[in-house]
Amino acid sequence: MNHLDPVRHVRGESQYLDDVPVQQGTLYAAVFESPLAHGVLRAIHLSEARQAPGVFRILTAADIPGENQIGGIVPDEPLLAEGHVHFRGQPVALVLADTEHQAQAALRLIRADIDPLPIITDPRVAAAQGELIVPPRTFRLGDPDAIWSQCAHIFEGEAESGGQEHLYIETQGAYAFPTEMGGVRIISSTQGPTAVQRHTAHVLGIGMHQIEVDVTRLGGGFGGKEDQATTWGALAALGAFVVRRPVKLVLDRMADMRMTGKRHPYSSDFRIGLDENLRILAYEVTFYQNAGAAADLSPAVLERTLFHATNAYFIPNVKVTAYSCRTNLPPNTAFRGFGGPQGMFVMESAIVKAAETLGVSPSEIQRRNLLRENDLFSYRQPAEMCNAGLAWDTAANLYDLPKLRQEVDVFNQQNEQLKKGLSVMPICFGISFTKTPMNQARALVHIYTDGSVGVSTGAVEMGQGVNTKIAQVAAQTLGISPSRIKVESTNTTRVANTSPSAASATADLNGKATQMACEALRERLLRHAVLEYTLNYEGLEIRDEQVLAAGVPADTNWEKLVSSAYWKRVSLTENAHYATPDIHFDPVTNQGYPFAYHVYGTAYTTVTLDCLRGTYTFDALRIVHDFGESMNPAIDLGQIEGGAVQGIGWMTMEELIYNEEGRLLSNSLNSYKIPDLYSVPQRIDVHFLETPGHPRAILRSKAVGEPPLMYGIGAYFAVRDAISAFRPAHRPTFSAPITPEKALLNLYPSGVAEEVVRLASSTVA
Ligand code: MTE
Ligand code: HPA
Ligand code: MOS
Repeated sequence: MNHLDPVRHVRGESQYLDDVPVQQGTLYAAVFESPLAHGVLRAIHLSEARQAPGVFRILTAADIPGENQIGGIVPDEPLLAEGHVHFRGQPVALVLADTEHQAQAALRLIRADIDPLPIITDPRVAAAQGELIVPPRTFRLGDPDAIWSQCAHIFEGEAESGGQEHLYIETQGAYAFPTEMGGVRIISSTQGPTAVQRHTAHVLGIGMHQIEVDVTRLGGGFGGKEDQATTWGALAALGAFVVRRPVKLVLDRMADMRMTGKRHPYSSDFRIGLDENLRILAYEVTFYQNAGAAADLSPAVLERTLFHATNAYFIPNVKVTAYSCRTNLPPNTAFRGFGGPQGMFVMESAIVKAAETLGVSPSEIQRRNLLRENDLFSYRQPAEMCNAGLAWDTAANLYDLPKLRQEVDVFNQQNEQLKKGLSVMPICFGISFTKTPMNQARALVHIYTDGSVGVSTGAVEMGQGVNTKIAQVAAQTLGISPSRIKVESTNTTRVANTSPSAASATADLNGKATQMACEALRERLLRHAVLEYTLNYEGLEIRDEQVLAAGVPADTNWEKLVSSAYWKRVSLTENAHYATPDIHFDPVTNQGYPFAYHVYGTAYTTVTLDCLRGTYTFDALRIVHDFGESMNPAIDLGQIEGGAVQGIGWMTMEELIYNEEGRLLSNSLNSYKIPDLYSVPQRIDVHFLETPGHPRAILRSKAVGEPPLMYGIGAYFAVRDAISAFRPAHRPTFSAPITPEKALLNLYPSGVAEEVVRLASSTVA
């Protein structure tokens, strides 16, 4: 079954927030943002803007009827600044005007008196000053402190990874409508409709039942709309609530880039100890997470960094500590991988450091230390149905690792200005929200009297194909054609108390709830068939819309059965609740069984580096991935390709630059580059590993949303490998992204590359 949406997408028929027909009387909102990264907010001067053409009303924190607070995990984030400003781009006031243009124009007439305070942008500086979002966390296994004396080799180092802009095609926004009795209906571009509902109710000082949030689909979320869609939903709702007119708020691209948080940059110190046989005995890391000015999801992201700090390896003695550091940047947030990639980059850096110093291939160390069945993670869950070794070996055989290595080495002997590099990147990613209670979902299924079916769940379609998977589950369970199924918009009045669509678990959680509801309906219909058509329940089934009794067509089909059930007053609606079984985690001891299962895989990346220019092209990305029994290979393949390329972008070309004043310099698509057709690998091969899947995965088809992003980490190490072929004695610092500029600076001794860059720019001039 193909993804249901793309035909409508390319025809321009799919409805996004901005396609909702505009209601008469709508006001357009624009946000006045803090021009400084830190300071005391003395006064906001609005009188000039209030006189501007078309301006209807300007709202500030003083207009908030409930509590001015939208912090999800820690209550440290006002909706509109009050007393202080903590980052550039922080919302301060909301202008409501007749047109978008008038609202934007009025922003330029607002001034704020702010007494500047010192600005911190570096997480290590924040940690040194005690500016922490939450107390530090440590995961521990074995006896790391005692084991160092037994290590034959010990290596230490520092690793840095940068942030990442989500760059969903559809920017953040919401459209809010006042409803009867003081309520608000919000159409929101959010991954978390319930989060928008809950925080908006809190800000407005009314019950959640007064707020309805509806989501048709997103033009991408990638984690950026898990928590941070709330601001815009709540602001639009505040406007609609106060002035009792519809209010539409959509950020333009540059405002979105300036004002919203991104992937967390991390700076880390590692220490790794190995025995003579290259077995890793001990691993210790301190992570400094750049959280930005408010907690947002940072504590949860921090925790997942610790969960994935040892990637796909078994290490008997582990001590990993993480600090969530408060800086004056926009609050950083969820981004595909949710802190896992940052942890895994440090692990791979430590292995490469050891390999480079010992003069062995990193893959020697990687292979020897891969997780095996029932090995313990630092959080004490065993690796069950562990496919780390299978994925590794399948890749080595299928793609012939020794031959690839040899081809690279021969090429490098024969070429001076061009060098090739190769890396191997195994991955292991845990599936479930790490906060156990979030792993629940509901589905509401209606069968209409004509046999068509409406399915509502908490799942938000953001391009990942979850609606298609849910339609597949419903069709398969009921034994009918997918064309009879409509997956409805995600709406808080139909399905309440939803977890965000995140953690790669959306299809598992909402798919299982859908399956349960459809199983109950099927059972009910078959019980009805037994009475109505005097059939035996045993062996009764619905297949291809036909009722079969012990494999023989009975005198009824789907449509007739549904209709007759209705006339016999049998309920054609079912509501089901699913909660992932078996999982638990104690955040005090940091031990438990937090994940339903793990996803494994291995990727080979090959790159050709132009050593005159520092530019590179990826020759190939070869992946062996553990899909389980993929229920939709086309969608899953798309997730692998998109995720891996997004990871390559993070590791190579996407460079966020804030200056010391906390101002985003890479604030548009001129200065912030994501992979395009020319920078993706020339070929991407994906091999579906044959495994039985996992019973906790929907239809044994494993979650696929986030894991592939981490294949992209291999891109950094492939480029690094090529650099060392050109300049063997040099050891670049572990600092991602390895942009062409950074690659060039690493290819030549200090001073030379700067001179080349100077000459190049003067030639251009
Ligand atoms: N794919 C597309 N096309 N667009 C997206 O926004 N988000 C990713 C991933 N794949 C995303 C995507 C992220 S961050 C997650 S957590 C999962 O999809 C969420 O969907 P799932 O739980 O259904 O996999
Ligand atoms: N993953 C993604 N999003 C989340 C998680 C998680 O583990 N926990 C809370 N939000
Ligand atoms: Mo994905 S970062 O869990 O939205």
